[in-house]
Amino acid sequence: MTTALVKQSQVGLNGTIQVPGDKSISHRAVMFGAIAEGTTTVEGFLPGEDCLSTISCFKKLGIQIEQAGDKVKIVGKGWDGLSEPSDILDVGNSGTTTRLIMGILATRPFHSVIIGDDSIAKRPMARVTGPLREMGTIIDGRENGNFTPLSIRGGSTKGIHFQSKVASAQVKSAILLAGLQSEGVTSVTEPALSRDHTERMLEAYGVQVKRNGLTVSVEGGQSLTAQHIVVPGDISSAAFFLVAGAIVPNSKITIKGVGMNPTRSGIIDVLDQMGASMTIDNETTVGGEPIADITISTSTLKGIEIGGDVIPRLIDEIPVIAVLATQAHGKTVIRDAEELKVKETNRIDTVVSELTKLGASIQATDDGMIIEGKAALTGSVVSSFGDHRIGMAMAVAGLITEGDVHINRSEAIAVSYPNFFEHIEQLQTK
Ligand code: S3P
Repeated sequence: MTTALVKQSQVGLNGTIQVPGDKSISHRAVMFGAIAEGTTTVEGFLPGEDCLSTISCFKKLGIQIEQAGDKVKIVGKGWDGLSEPSDILDVGNSGTTTRLIMGILATRPFHSVIIGDDSIAKRPMARVTGPLREMGTIIDGRENGNFTPLSIRGGSTKGIHFQSKVASAQVKSAILLAGLQSEGVTSVTEPALSRDHTERMLEAYGVQVKRNGLTVSVEGGQSLTAQHIVVPGDISSAAFFLVAGAIVPNSKITIKGVGMNPTRSGIIDVLDQMGASMTIDNETTVGGEPIADITISTSTLKGIEIGGDVIPRLIDEIPVIAVLATQAHGKTVIRDAEELKVKETNRIDTVVSELTKLGASIQATDDGMIIEGKAALTGSVVSSFGDHRIGMAMAVAGLITEGDVHINRSEAIAVSYPNFFEHIEQLQTK
């Protein structure tokens, strides 16, 4: 276990950084490259532990992949290029790897076994197992296929029309990926729009995807053609520095090349509504995804209500939004966010318990939390509980606490942001 020490920032955070590549897009670039025909190259890949788990699983499925830093080369041989693995597929801490690979393996005529770490073992997989079984895949696992280890025997499958109870891009993507090699049409309807990177990237790989409101559908029998993919900066990683820039006195941070996909940009809406001093420049597009540079400076903030359709657009940012809310004047209410309970940790519990230790006025609710600001935070010993985003949210809080914050299990941060502490240091020495 590693314990990180974070001290109150004396000088503010100033300068320009480029956050690592988007995690969701990095996973998909590798997975889609692995089932495409030809050699795919990726630049801006996130070399975090989750995406490295994806690479390792596809290597075990017989795909030749070379990765050096943020560059990856994947030699795809089409859907039939995947072969029965002689070893178990270890997804580590990665929910995206687990659920999307299930969708890919659902139509492959062989057997595979998926395991992950302690956190993965607690995350519900029935949301994917159920529809894939309906399509015809044989899946088993603990508690009737709800938990890892999972065993999958793919085969010939039929398209379904699936009405999802949750707005989940992982569920949507798994079913659509299975649909690409199933008989007939497969469609997924969500209660609210989840991130649409799968739809955008499948189109880039030459697949026909139909979108109609909250429904996405694909026709079976489609193959993918190798591409060159440029991965934008991860807005979920940028979020930690957007919040730090807004709450640490004497700060002005520019983050370059941040992915601004509207299904992911809820954090920008929240910062805006809270009154943050923020500008967005150099808007352009890379690989079918909008990007921009964002500049933020120390701000006077006010509490707001966050709920409804914006929740899937900022679900991963809620731990750091809670930190932001402790520094806003008045009450911030986060609701409709039950999905937080099934992330890497139960993030309602972990956010509330750890911010309480730092002196925040925060209360858990059934579907979110209520935060009263503005609170003077104080140092303490906290834990990431093995959850990267909890670790980073605590580090951002530590930049404004009176007294030091010690973050146990800080190694988890490498899951999505290996150079996170280097960026904090860099911005404080400018
Ligand atoms: C992801 C989807 C989201 C998100 C996760 C990444 C993806 O999960 O929280 O970090 O890459 O598809 P859900 O699909 O479970 O909402």
